[in-house]
Amino acid sequence: MRRAGADAPPGLWTVLVILLDDSGGVSVSNRLFTVGPVEVFEDTMQAMNKPMMIHRGQKYASLQHGIVEKMHKVLDTDLHIFLAPASATAFLEACVRCGVHEHMMSLTNGSFGDRWASIGTACGKQVKRVEGQWGKAIRPADAAGKLEPATEAVTIVSNESSTGVLNPTMELARLFKAEADPLVFVDGVTSVGAVDFKLREMEIDALVFGSQKAFALPPGLAIICCSDRLLKVAEKVKGRGYYLDLLEYKKSADKDMPLTTPPISLMYGLDYQLDKMLKEGMANRYARHHEMAEAARAWAFKRFKLYAEKGYESETITVVDSGKLDFARLDKELKSRGFEVSPGYGKIKESTFRIGHMGDLTMKDMNDLFKALDDSLEAMK
Ligand SMILES: Cc1ncc(COP(=O)(O)O)c(C=O)c1O
Repeated sequence: MRRAGADAPPGLWTVLVILLDDSGGVSVSNRLFTVGPVEVFEDTMQAMNKPMMIHRGQKYASLQHGIVEKMHKVLDTDLHIFLAPASATAFLEACVRCGVHEHMMSLTNGSFGDRWASIGTACGKQVKRVEGQWGKAIRPADAAGKLEPATEAVTIVSNESSTGVLNPTMELARLFKAEADPLVFVDGVTSVGAVDFKLREMEIDALVFGSQKAFALPPGLAIICCSDRLLKVAEKVKGRGYYLDLLEYKKSADKDMPLTTPPISLMYGLDYQLDKMLKEGMANRYARHHEMAEAARAWAFKRFKLYAEKGYESETITVVDSGKLDFARLDKELKSRGFEVSPGYGKIKESTFRIGHMGDLTMKDMNDLFKALDDSLEAMK
């Protein structure tokens, strides 16, 4: 089931999505081509609309058990899977708190790479930064020889959401394994569910993501796939705290239980989305994302420039190098047509905007967006 009115002609769409807002006025709900939270379709919203239950009973345990089982299939992995009522950053921090005594290394070529390095510093770890250029991928050659004898773990952002660069995560993970085999933690926040990580070959120690990106759910659930090796290290690391202690999550997960009160509605939604993914088939899902990304790149290339270097473009976020374009104006025009994209981020905020193409969106949605973008740009002349 699609979002009501999504296939209607633009004029009709605007009429159909008019909602009463809190103050009793009207607000228009836009179709989201954002970098997250992304569009959540009506069928998914309905799947979450179930009566509440307590989370210490068999009914809840079956729900969590089923989710973990399906997640293993969807991601083709045997890694441990833990869920937390939090945004993805919680588990990015958990990697640092549980997997690093003192020394870590962070690869960064954008805002989110910087963020993970800063989390390390904020947790009191010594962080060596390997800085890449914004808009360019960090290649194995850039990272080779950078590990120090003391480096216990490395952080890699797979899809850098500020620049729209997809870093060659598999190659980087292989490099580190061959060099000194530190723990390798990967931020998959805007790529898991849209890009095939080939986790069995990648042999990493943590992959972190959240519900509000390519899983096309509302925000509120953080998810981590983590290795035995990371849990083993955690046993000896001090200051893991409680809420972010992966060993506590393991103890609860072994009983199909959450550590704390889970967002049950979101769990219903996740269960539903995993079924949807399995029905679509992950190869088809990855191919759909690739097709949407190619189309977004072609549109961006026709109208402006791409920020990401060729060959390393994101499959979920196209960062349009729009120069002096008045994004506030474009945003207004787009919203008046019932569509929304994301502004630029970090130090390139003023000269870029970002198109999100992930989750349950299809080529039909993309073509609707391109028409709305073209019409909006036309109206701005
Ligand atoms: C690549 C990347 N990492 C981390 C985050 C932070 O995720 P959250 O806001 O769910 O904590 C984001 C959010 O957009 C992201 O795009």
